[in-house]
Amino acid sequence: MPAIRLTARDLSDLRLLAWGAYDPLDGFVGEDDHAFVVAGMRLASGHLWPFPIAPAVDVHEAAELRGQDEVELLTPDGDVVGTLAEPEVYKVDPVAEVEAVFGTDDPAHPGVAVVLDGGPWRVGGKVVVEADHSALALPAPFDRHPASPTAVRAAIAERGWRTVVAFQTRNPIHRAHEYLTKVALESVDGLLVHPLVGETKGDDIPADVRLRCYEALLDDYYPADRALLGLFPAPMRYAGPREAVFHAICRRNYGATHFIVGRDHAGVGDYYGTYAAQDLLREIGTEELGITPVFFEHSFYCAACGSMASGKTCPHDPDQHVHLSGTKVRELLAAGELPPVEFTRPEIGQLLIDASR
Ligand code: ADX
Repeated sequence: MPAIRLTARDLSDLRLLAWGAYDPLDGFVGEDDHAFVVAGMRLASGHLWPFPIAPAVDVHEAAELRGQDEVELLTPDGDVVGTLAEPEVYKVDPVAEVEAVFGTDDPAHPGVAVVLDGGPWRVGGKVVVEADHSALALPAPFDRHPASPTAVRAAIAERGWRTVVAFQTRNPIHRAHEYLTKVALESVDGLLVHPLVGETKGDDIPADVRLRCYEALLDDYYPADRALLGLFPAPMRYAGPREAVFHAICRRNYGATHFIVGRDHAGVGDYYGTYAAQDLLREIGTEELGITPVFFEHSFYCAACGSMASGKTCPHDPDQHVHLSGTKVRELLAAGELPPVEFTRPEIGQLLIDASR
C-alpha cells in the first residue's frame, strides 16, 4: 500500500483529529471543503471551520497516491500510525489560501511560510486511526497532564464543574495572563489552563520550559480544586482571528463552556488588529461557536491603581503601566535578570533564566 510520511505538524493534527478535538472534522479536508473553508470559513456541509487541515505532498507523491483506495499514514520516523480512506489528491493555490486565511502572503509570517513551503498538492480523506495508538501518545514530560478531550472532560467531570473557562496560551503565564484567568474564574466553576504545546516558531519559549512554569504557577498561585492544567498539542499557525475561531471550537470539544480572548489573540508581528479576533468571534456568535468567548482588553500592572488593570478599567496615564515587549523580556532573561515582579512572578522569571542558560 502506498504511504504518506507525515511531518511533525501533520502528526499533531492527526492526533487531534483522531482524538475528536477537531470535530466536525473527521479527516483531512478534500478539495470541496478546502475551497469552502478558504472562501467562507465553512465546510461544504455548512459547519463553521476556519482553515484547511490537509497534509501537503510533493508532485511525485501526488502522482503515486492518485486513484488509490487507501494509503498508509506514517509518523516522521516511518512507523505506521493508521490509514487514510479514499484519499483525494488535489491542487490548490497556496497564495490565495494564505491571503484568505492569514490576511497576507508575506513569507516572513511564520504560518504563511509553512503553507507556501508545502506547495500546491494536498491529500484529504477520512482518517482511520486508533485514538489510543502508541504513536499518538505524548512523550515525557507532556504525559503528566490530560491532553485528549476524553481525558480533560473526565477531569472536569471528576471535579463536578458545570461551567469551565479555557485559557489558550503559547507563552509562559505572566501577570497579565494570570489576571485574565483569575478574573474569568470569578464567574465560572473552574479554569482549564490549556497551553498549546505543539510546534511554535523558533523564538517562542519551548513547550517543555513553559510546562515547568505552568506547573510551578498552578502549584503556588491557583486553587487546586478550581484550576486544571490540560495540554493542547496543536501546532501554532499565528492566523490571528481565524485561529481564535479554531481555538474556540477545539476548547468546546474539550468540554469548556467559556473561552478567554484577549489582545491580538494568536497574532504575530503587526499583521492583525488588536481586537480583530474578538470582532470575528462576536460576529459569529456564541450559538454557532458552541462556547462563550470571554473578552479582555489589554491588561497590565498599573502603579497608580496599585493593581493589575486593563484599558477598560484603568483611568491612568500609560506611563503608570508596566509594559514589556517580548524582545525586552528576552534581553533581560538572557542577561540573567529577573523581569519586574509586576510583569512576572519571580519563580517564573527564574525558571526562564535557568532555561536560557
Ligand atoms: S496566543 O498566541 O496564545 O494568543 P499569548 O500566549 O500571548 O498568545 O496569549 C494568550 C491569550 O492571552 C490570548 O487570548 C491573548 O489575547 C491574551 N493576552 C495575552 N497578553 C495579554 C494582555 N497583556 N492583555 C490582554 N490579553 C492578553
